[in-house]
Amino acid sequence: MCGIIGILGSAPAAPRLVEALKRLEYRGYDSAGVATLEGGVIKRRRAPGKLANLERELAAAPLAGVTGIGHTRWATHGAPTTANAHPHATDRVAIVHNGIIENFRALREELIAKGHKFESETDSEVIAHLITAGLDKGEKPEAAAIGAVRRLEGAFGIAVLFAGEEDVLIGARKGSPLAVGFGDGEMFLGSDAIAVSPFTTRVMFLEEGDIAILSRAGAKVLDADGAVAQRQIHIFSGGVASVEKGNHRHFMQKEIYEQPETTGRTITRYVNAYDERVEMPDLDGVDLAADNAIIIGCGTAHYAGRVAEYWLEQIAGITVETDIASEFRYRKPAFGKKSFGVFVSQSGETADTLAALRYCKENALKTLAVVNVPESTIWREADARLPTLAGPEIGVASTKAFTAQLSALAALAIAVGRARGALSSQEEGRLVHALMETPRLITDALTAEPQIEAIAHELAHARDVLYLGRGVHYPIALEGALKLKEISYIHAEGYAAGELKHGPIALIDEDTPGVVVAPHDALFEKTLSNMQEVAARGAKLIVITDPAGAAAVKDIAKHIILAPACDAFVAPLVYSVPIQLLAYLTAVQKGTDVDQPRNLAKSVTVE
Ligand code: F6R
Repeated sequence: MCGIIGILGSAPAAPRLVEALKRLEYRGYDSAGVATLEGGVIKRRRAPGKLANLERELAAAPLAGVTGIGHTRWATHGAPTTANAHPHATDRVAIVHNGIIENFRALREELIAKGHKFESETDSEVIAHLITAGLDKGEKPEAAAIGAVRRLEGAFGIAVLFAGEEDVLIGARKGSPLAVGFGDGEMFLGSDAIAVSPFTTRVMFLEEGDIAILSRAGAKVLDADGAVAQRQIHIFSGGVASVEKGNHRHFMQKEIYEQPETTGRTITRYVNAYDERVEMPDLDGVDLAADNAIIIGCGTAHYAGRVAEYWLEQIAGITVETDIASEFRYRKPAFGKKSFGVFVSQSGETADTLAALRYCKENALKTLAVVNVPESTIWREADARLPTLAGPEIGVASTKAFTAQLSALAALAIAVGRARGALSSQEEGRLVHALMETPRLITDALTAEPQIEAIAHELAHARDVLYLGRGVHYPIALEGALKLKEISYIHAEGYAAGELKHGPIALIDEDTPGVVVAPHDALFEKTLSNMQEVAARGAKLIVITDPAGAAAVKDIAKHIILAPACDAFVAPLVYSVPIQLLAYLTAVQKGTDVDQPRNLAKSVTVE
């Protein structure tokens, strides 16, 4: 949600804080701020809006000092103003916070009654005052921070800077992730490994309830019970290069074009190409011969789960229930005995998905995480995990993470089919072979960009767009509509093509284009009938199909986006590419902020 960085360094901190915040801006971009110690005194610069505004502030009034904290905000409590921007500070303490402090009102009233003066409308500011109250009582920084953190209810990742303390930085984590970076005589705190990636590859991830006390000599970690804890140091391979745009205009474009590689990497993790067999890692008690499964996620990750629902039912013959995490967690559903839960998440930190996972674990359901960010909370709390190997995804609209999720879920469907005896080895070989061809097919699908660009010029004028698909392409239509609305701000809806007559067809007129995801598969003729119904009512059809489909729709389609012919099993992966490009190029045409669309944040760590 919000991005956090903290530095105990040996070089000027302000430019390094900004450098880290650039990598974190994808988490939130309503405002940004930094604080450093100048001769032991806390000095801040903050600005509403994008990071560029903060950079201007710093250029006009630079900050000295080698110790500091920084923040990029996605607003929850209080508008994105300078006063509400982090760091929040007293003259003794500055803090940055990611998450929500649920009991902030009671704490704030208590502190106001004791004479503390608040400057913002945020829940976060109370943390700075609580710690200050401890210091005012004569406590040392560590005791004051621990005392304050123990009183906070809600979710938080925080970093704390103390006036007069050049060699102390304290971080605490409950509900929101926090990572510690180890440099050479320098230490770092970050809301994720990407934050500290410009400075070090050695990263330690704090666990729930941990408090880390950093000095330049290292970190002491206390667990939720206050006992000293050892946490493993990982080498973060995400690297700085993968979070640069390279020659691309936007991260989203770069990430769309990375998909041959990212799907290839993910697929080869789960298949033995030589034997054409799926090879799953140890799934720690998750019984793949189960009779049913639930698949939970939010947004795009949920749609990946919806595709997997079709695969698991068709390939493995099991009953699958998919749901949006925010609904599932409050439904209190019951589970069958031979069942497992799959939790799909790019960030591994989505609050609702995490809550759904915890609910399942409390009810003795084995859990399997399909997660992109290693060592994220969902990754660590699940019984077993199928990593997606998309690498850092910076564009707020998910693209390469989605196809990596599909890649892992496709392998899972084959593994479940084999475990249940529902799949002959010949059929497994055919499916694995098709999966292995996917990266090449995605490369082919990318060549449609010039054709899609021409269509995007037209689509950019639409007010409403309908996306239609059938079977496994219904979730792809839903994903196409989501992509378009989130980055181009054009209203779009995805429908199952067969559902159109039951209401939505009333929306059709010549100003409402229909985007149809329609490979020439077993359901093509059915979708063709639906296309005819829509075309007859004046809609301009943009049909995404293969050469055989193109021949069949040439008289009713206004535009055809050609996708390569492919095995029906992997078509959802291949057809994801044109729907992503269509949304991307339309948004570029409209001139919206593609990588940081309004109101959104990359990682939704609040409910
Ligand atoms: C849309 C998008 C979101 C995320 C959703 C879940 O492009 O990115 O819908 O898919 O917020 O996030 P993760 O996968 O991090 O759990």
